Amino acid sequence: MVRFAILGTGRIGAMHAGIVARQPDAAVTWCYDVDHDRAAACAAQVGGRASTDVDAILAADDVDAVLIASPTNTHVDLILKSAAAGKPILCEKPIDVDLAKVEACRAALADFDVPLQLGFNRRFDPSHRAVRDAVAAGEIGALELLVITSRDPGPPPPRAILEACGGLFRDTSIHDFDMARFVLGEEVTEVYAMAANRVDPVFAELGDVDTAMIVMRSASGALVHVNNSRRTNYGYDQRVEAFGADGMVRSNNHRPSEVSRHGDQATAARTPLLHFFIERYAAAYEAEIRDFIDMLAAGGRPSVTFDDGHRALLLSEAALQSYRENRPVTVAEI
Ligand SMILES: NC(=O)c1ccc[n+]([C@@H]2O[C@H](COP(=O)([O-])OP(=O)(O)OC[C@H]3O[C@@H](n4cnc5c(N)ncnc54)[C@H](O)[C@@H]3O)[C@@H](O)[C@H]2O)c1
Repeated sequence: MVRFAILGTGRIGAMHAGIVARQPDAAVTWCYDVDHDRAAACAAQVGGRASTDVDAILAADDVDAVLIASPTNTHVDLILKSAAAGKPILCEKPIDVDLAKVEACRAALADFDVPLQLGFNRRFDPSHRAVRDAVAAGEIGALELLVITSRDPGPPPPRAILEACGGLFRDTSIHDFDMARFVLGEEVTEVYAMAANRVDPVFAELGDVDTAMIVMRSASGALVHVNNSRRTNYGYDQRVEAFGADGMVRSNNHRPSEVSRHGDQATAARTPLLHFFIERYAAAYEAEIRDFIDMLAAGGRPSVTFDDGHRALLLSEAALQSYRENRPVTVAEI
């Protein structure tokens, strides 16, 4: 039985807590949040006790692992505290939006032998993973083009979340940069990003962008295209397409059902796509937590690492620099 403390019980923390509580070999023993009411509401749903004192939780003898789902700018502090307490960590992405802080954290972690798995949940999506597996098995020959579409449903998230998130490239595109590395099976070496404000004035007010097209080159010469928007009017648009000399493999969007309607106004009409990450990636979040629990039980190493989080953030920084300077940027420059 793996006993979890959930650190941060907002949107994603409460969802993770529910998944942990459903596992036959895991339980939530503590819910921590700076907002006691949120922690208490989460504990009422999944069991365990609520607290606003993380040090007491990390010292408790009924915590085998922590799941960090607090705002991004609190991750490094909670990672280091949890590592010092000897607790295995499953931490939401990104590690932080400040590259220097991430690199200092990596150096500090060298003092502790604690497994840390990073929450790049999309790697666990069965459809995206099937694309990766097909590419790795050589089904399409050498990969030539990889196209990743990732567009959030509107309207924009609350301003407080946007203020804390680090901007489009570090908060959202970072998932796509990780997906690119996952499918490519090699590193990206060069990034060229164009971006714009097309969706909502709040993004420009925060010095952020809401629309982007990013082109990248891999070490072996494959080309990658990532396109992002903070708004669709048809649901969460998440597609991955890999192309090579021997064919193409694509992970398509998901809908609530496979029903299509035909009439005098439209044919093959279907429902909007599943709304957002909690709906679209439900299976992925569950598989991610199972992978973490199974890894702990087997005494293995995490399949998604701190290094993966660091490398994806390097691509976010390269994209940001490319956008600001309007030129291709090599990852080696970062
Ligand atoms: N993998 C994914 O698909 C995915 C999706 C959404 C969010 N995230 C990540 O999860 C994290 C949380 O995002 P969210 O959307 O759930 O945010 P949220 O604002 O809904 O929830 C954050 C919670 O943390 C609490 N909190 C604030 N400061 C804290 C602190 N110092 N210690 C503990 N708790 C604190 C808040 O009270 C709130 O309940 C972010 O890092 C975000 O990037 C990942």
